[in-house]
Amino acid sequence: MSGTPPGDLARNRALWTVVNAEFTDGDADRSWAATTLTWGLFGIPERDLGVLGDVTGLDVVELGCGTAYLSAQLARQGARPVGVDLNAAQLATAARCQRRFGPTFPLVEADAEKVPLADGRFDLVVSEYGASVWCDPDRWVAEAARLLRPRGRLVFLTNSVLATLCVPEDEGFTQEQLLRPQRGLRRTAWPGGGVEFHPSHGEWIRTLAANGFAVQALHELYAPAGAATHAYYGIATARWASRWPVEDLWAAQLTG
Ligand SMILES: C[S@@+](CC[C@H](N)C(=O)[O-])C[C@H]1O[C@@H](n2cnc3c(N)ncnc32)[C@H](O)[C@@H]1O
Repeated sequence: MSGTPPGDLARNRALWTVVNAEFTDGDADRSWAATTLTWGLFGIPERDLGVLGDVTGLDVVELGCGTAYLSAQLARQGARPVGVDLNAAQLATAARCQRRFGPTFPLVEADAEKVPLADGRFDLVVSEYGASVWCDPDRWVAEAARLLRPRGRLVFLTNSVLATLCVPEDEGFTQEQLLRPQRGLRRTAWPGGGVEFHPSHGEWIRTLAANGFAVQALHELYAPAGAATHAYYGIATARWASRWPVEDLWAAQLTG
């Protein structure tokens, strides 16, 4: 498998430099100062889901860590994270936040489809809107399996399949109608945006199984009552996401 073409990688790297300047750098102080580990656009608390379990003493790698606030939360809970990201600007923000808030942990500038870290080094691979969206599942799930020890776990969050079917191609929030076919959705190049991967649930299960994982859970995340629409990511309004799942949070474990 050859992986994501260099042109797509360059397009995504450039997009995330712009997003860092527009939003993630400015938001990083808030996300690093947060005291609760939450998931996704509407901040669903991990304590309500229990998808990660006790991470104390675990070696964790976050693929597509961005500003690495998730890894920071895991480090505060006693894990030993390593953050991997393609984008130097995102990692520079992460390093700034490490100095300002702590804790510090390694940050690696690399493509999550070809991670320059040793086989079998980690107990847990996580990705929140990182490799889970921006990398070819055949490549990055294989990398996750390679990086994990036997019985290691993979937990990742991505846009729900339904949200991806209902979001307009250019600007705007998810609609109450299907705007594209599900067939062929897997690789999606947005006009003026990046190149994303949105496999169906069946494709995720096949890819996970082909790489030695058994699915433990699929949490479909809704906006909780009283949630506000995200100020920057124009994906779904809180009203839409209170009625349909906006994100899929998967947990899987290597069977051997
Ligand atoms: C939405 S951020 C995810 C981080 C954080 N959880 C968040 O929601 O802000 C997406 C990140 O994926 C990174 N990314 C995109 N393609 C990548 C690739 N091929 N390898 C590693 N990281 C990649 C981007 O640089 C960006 O920092």
